[in-house]
Amino acid sequence: MEKTVTEADSTSTFPEARTCPYQPPSTYREFQQRGPLCRVEQYDGAMAWVVTRYDTARRLLADHRLSADRTHPGFPLLSARFEAVREQQPRLPLVAMDPPEHGVYRRMVLKEFTVKRVRELRPALERIARRFADDLVDAGPPADLVPTFALPVPSMVICEVLGVPFDDHDFFRDVGQRMAESADPEDIAAARGEMVEYLDGLVTARQGEPGPGLISRLVTERLARGELDREDVVAMAEFLLVAGHETTASMISLSVLTLLEHPEQLAILRSDPSAMPSAVEELLRYLSVADLAGVRVAVDDIEVDGRLIRAGDGVIVPNALANRDPHAFADPDTFDIRREARHHVGFGFGVHQCLGQNLARAELEIALSVLLERLPTLSLAVDDVRELPVRAATTIQGINKLPITW
Ligand code: HEM
Repeated sequence: MEKTVTEADSTSTFPEARTCPYQPPSTYREFQQRGPLCRVEQYDGAMAWVVTRYDTARRLLADHRLSADRTHPGFPLLSARFEAVREQQPRLPLVAMDPPEHGVYRRMVLKEFTVKRVRELRPALERIARRFADDLVDAGPPADLVPTFALPVPSMVICEVLGVPFDDHDFFRDVGQRMAESADPEDIAAARGEMVEYLDGLVTARQGEPGPGLISRLVTERLARGELDREDVVAMAEFLLVAGHETTASMISLSVLTLLEHPEQLAILRSDPSAMPSAVEELLRYLSVADLAGVRVAVDDIEVDGRLIRAGDGVIVPNALANRDPHAFADPDTFDIRREARHHVGFGFGVHQCLGQNLARAELEIALSVLLERLPTLSLAVDDVRELPVRAATTIQGINKLPITW
């Protein structure tokens, strides 16, 4: 049965911040009760659809009648910050391109993220995680896990993937950290400028002398043949940094917090390290840190689950809703590292499904294993986790501080 959208369908402003860092906002339960799709009002008064069911989420994320092009007038912006970011971006990042252009660009960078390539990277990932865990042990306790481990580990991993020379690693880490975590918008913009300038210089250096990593490969295989220009190469490198840094850093800190808050699950993991891959899947499902990555606009009418999404309507597919859908995961609010959770949509679904997922899985497995091994008495240095300030609803979900001791 067709149902046309009316203002009366809406009762909630979207999105809403989490109150507990590892739980979705309380309104998500209410959204689920409103059916597979519900209407929400955004900060600017515009209306959009929110998808609440796992099956509907996967069906829509695979539907080419939904566009990821954020310059489309109906595209849900979620916050004023998004509007500013959109205006600053000289070209669309991969995640905002539609087929067929999207496939052309994605294929250019796939090679660095295959299962095989990530397997080859594992010794480097292990070395990076051990280096920061050693520094942590030398400096503490207590310590704040976010700047000492959760942020620098993924940053160094991206250096490895892009081929950033060793001597520049500290600069890259500091600037990347400011881009991801600074509280000051001007500092974020300044850091972004420094990063773009640095990456541009690296492109020039690789034109003169090829080296390891993705940037050099794009320079020699694509820039030299005129298939990409230098701004494309710089924009791609910057996007990979942004896409892989904050997400993985949030996953590391929230995973540690969640495990410490569920001591019986942590005990299982400590007694059986082979449970780590399944624990990582459950953490990805349970935490859904990229909750609001799946934002789209309809470019044609779509009938789904008895509702009519009209061309021009905004559609938001929060992965925390799909990942907590009881039709897809029994007892979805229970954190259970032994459950079969690999079909979660924490990495999205469809053509934009996370390019870095093999890498992210390996990073999380290694970072958490190294940390648990190096800190057998790890505990939280905060009485109530609700005291930890959670990040704004429209960013990657997470915390900017995680006081720990051991
Ligand atoms: C896309 C989550 C780590 C690179 C996505 C999407 C999600 C996601 C949900 C889909 C966005 C959409 O549907 O519009 C995550 C999470 C991560 C993670 C939870 C950490 C645990 C990484 C890493 C990299 C990366 C380490 C690379 C260094 C990308 C790229 C895309 C993407 C390039 C866009 C793909 C495309 O549009 O074809 N990620 N990501 N991500 N991610 Fe990740």
